[in-house]
Amino acid sequence: MAKDTPQTFYLKDYTPFGYDVESVHLTFRLAPETTRVLSKIRFAPKPDAADKTFFLHGEELKLISAKLDGQEVTPELADGGLKCEVPSAPFTWEAEVEINPAGNTALEGLYMSNRMYCTQCEAEGFRKITYYPDRPDVMSTFTVRIEGDEPVMLSNGNPMGQGEGWAEWHDPWPKPAYLFALVAGDLVNHPGSFTTKSGKEVELNIWVRPGDEGKCAFGMETLKKSMKWDEDVYGLEYDLELFNIVAVDDFNMGAMENKGLNIFNSSCVLASPETSTDANFERIEAIIAHEYFHNWTGNRITCRDWFQLCLKEGLTVFRDAQFTADMRSEPVKRIDDVITLRARQFPEDNGPLAHPPRPEAFQEINNFYTATVYEKGAEVIGMLKRLVGDDNYYKALQLYFERHDGQACTIEDWLKVFEDATGRDLSQFKLWYSQAGTPRVKVSEDYADGTYTLTFEQSTPPTPGQPDKAPRVIPMAVGLLSPNGDEVRGTQVLELTDAKQSFTFDGLASKPVPSILREFSAPVILERETTNAERAFLLAHDTDPFNRWEAGNALAKETRVAMVLDGAAPDAAYLDALEKLVRDDEQDPAFRALVLSPPSQADIAQTLHERGYTPDPQKIYDAAETFTQTLAQQLETSLPRLYAATTVEGPYAPDAESAGKRALNGRILSLLTRLDGGEQAARQYASADNMTQQYAALGALMKAEKGEVQSQAFFDQWQDDRLVMDKWFALQIACAAPEKTAATAAALTKHPLFDMKNPNRFRAVFGALAGNHAGFHHASGEGYQLLAENLIALDSLNPQTTARMCAAFQTWKRYDAGRQSLIRAQLSRIAGTEGLSRDTNEMVTRILDA
Ligand code: BES
Ligand code: ZN
Repeated sequence: MAKDTPQTFYLKDYTPFGYDVESVHLTFRLAPETTRVLSKIRFAPKPDAADKTFFLHGEELKLISAKLDGQEVTPELADGGLKCEVPSAPFTWEAEVEINPAGNTALEGLYMSNRMYCTQCEAEGFRKITYYPDRPDVMSTFTVRIEGDEPVMLSNGNPMGQGEGWAEWHDPWPKPAYLFALVAGDLVNHPGSFTTKSGKEVELNIWVRPGDEGKCAFGMETLKKSMKWDEDVYGLEYDLELFNIVAVDDFNMGAMENKGLNIFNSSCVLASPETSTDANFERIEAIIAHEYFHNWTGNRITCRDWFQLCLKEGLTVFRDAQFTADMRSEPVKRIDDVITLRARQFPEDNGPLAHPPRPEAFQEINNFYTATVYEKGAEVIGMLKRLVGDDNYYKALQLYFERHDGQACTIEDWLKVFEDATGRDLSQFKLWYSQAGTPRVKVSEDYADGTYTLTFEQSTPPTPGQPDKAPRVIPMAVGLLSPNGDEVRGTQVLELTDAKQSFTFDGLASKPVPSILREFSAPVILERETTNAERAFLLAHDTDPFNRWEAGNALAKETRVAMVLDGAAPDAAYLDALEKLVRDDEQDPAFRALVLSPPSQADIAQTLHERGYTPDPQKIYDAAETFTQTLAQQLETSLPRLYAATTVEGPYAPDAESAGKRALNGRILSLLTRLDGGEQAARQYASADNMTQQYAALGALMKAEKGEVQSQAFFDQWQDDRLVMDKWFALQIACAAPEKTAATAAALTKHPLFDMKNPNRFRAVFGALAGNHAGFHHASGEGYQLLAENLIALDSLNPQTTARMCAAFQTWKRYDAGRQSLIRAQLSRIAGTEGLSRDTNEMVTRILDA
């Protein structure tokens, strides 16, 4: 059992803090186990405040002394903070506390990673640094002095001075404490510079450990592109003289947007052709842009409280998706995002963890940095843009920046800006922010006398705490094709607002083929009776690339579902369609690679579940194997030619075009490996001069159980590179056959390089275990048991990462009674652990309550 009955926080209980914070001065005397933090904070009571309680958050702090206006005081230490009697006029609060960065394995607050000091304060980590009103609506300017013997000592804002053993920083922009950052250590920088549109020169740096300086160039170029893009597209300029990025090895998340001092998980910034795959480069590009874009959407305009998290995260994900679409391929980015949405957000929205993009209650806010807040939050903005149109969208955003700069805002503020800029009533649209669950949209059609009618019925299944749902505004992008393949109606956005609604199209010479939910214009599940012939037609003819992929994806699912349920053979017409597409050199290789990538086994399980069947992971695995083997045989004669044609020659470059070609080449290689005994993959492994091709070859060989030699060679070559070793750990588990998956993972936890305390390494092993669908869900239950044991072990060290990984169990109610009882036993075991963290307790309780 968790220590006490956990406290729940509610959106409806919001009350402003009774004091303004006029300035914050901090002094850090760094020492690994005994860092002293001295704070000097100017508070001013708000004249009209209803609640004048002077409560400062504080956790795991040793209070050395406290003063009010220079006089020593003895505050009342309470759970999670302190209370103090304070004057009714403005006053200065001073405190000295001691903290232990070296003993901080939770990686929240001030901690050490490889002898380097660094911080992570979002969401509520600043309270582990000093006593403070640690809430995002309290904004102030920060002046920071760092004392220590570290060669490099950084904080937010602009440098004020430095000398032997000290450095001072000042951030002129008022900010909430969650954006505070400090870094100190033996670091080297990769410098750069950017001149803003109004001619200000900004110094840029990427700070890394000595030895990693060669892996910064791509990040630096991306940072400059992001800065330029935000000026060009949103008119937003950077606002300090300096922008620093630091890479750290131990980090719970991907990266953090601290003002002027972004801190990155080294996996999300360090890149080189030899050590990073195309997927790594793309991720790094997106995340550097994302954190940079937060400077306006998050930092200059922040959140009033953590319930409003999607105000900054949904919007910033939307913006980084626009950036990626502009830098790379718009349809490919859209398809990738929908794959992720269905893989991560749909299970959440249709299971025990379902919550709206703006939740109304939480115990631990770290548990709400979810796919729903992020990805669905971004989808909601995409729908809003589609409904109001591009011009109105940018008009509303300009108004948002003008009206709310320097403020801590709510979703209401955000929607009001759109209402004022467009004159539109968004009250029904707002339901997207308050209702959980994925809407189902049932489509039926009718054709008579040249008139075609589409009828839509929407409904959303019950979710925890929300049994009934009102109809939402759903932008439904639709086009019509004539039976000969011409588009007879271009894309039109139909606005669904009622539970049931029909739309007619006149003057059609024959019954059209509809292309519905183009570009995936809303995050819904479409239910429509259609035929494989029609899907194949759309795969060949649709002018909307998303829906062309979607038609292929639906065909892939249908054939796999039929294989699982009826033992059917892979659909011949679909195999033919795939073959045609793969050979079609007119088509974008990245698109062909996507069509050639089968839906994941988890996706098939989800589809079966949606249709009322109980998924059998082993059968799903067998069907996937049979399908891929049959496809390889069907393509047998063309594979060598295709392999040669898609091989990218010359020096490696991470651009989208060559990456797309390599993605297709990798798919072809994995098919080829099923037929040639691994000869081509072994040759590719031996000659590869970049990680994308080396890793693709190793993966193909390991999947075929022919990669032992190469796996050892890979280890010998890369054992000193942490990020590459993460790949080595993960790949062995990802490629293992279902009956060997848990044992493979268990053995790797005994490997000398396995390290519980490094989140990247823990995730490499257990993310891969949970991601190997048939292996994790093997009927033995060994996968469940291994994960539970390790989550329990990690919880006392790092609650945040433990709690996030509990989500691997969220789909448990889909499976058969045997698996359910195995999972329930493991969840109960976690829940019953002595001293379990609040984070993990909340997650397992919610999952068990399903
Ligand atoms: N603000 C978050 C980082 C964060 C998340 C801090 C949770 C504390 C708790 C950051 O902007 C972010 O969203 N990072 C994402 C990557 C991004 C590309 C979506 C991450 O770290 O995964
Ligand atoms: Zn973010």
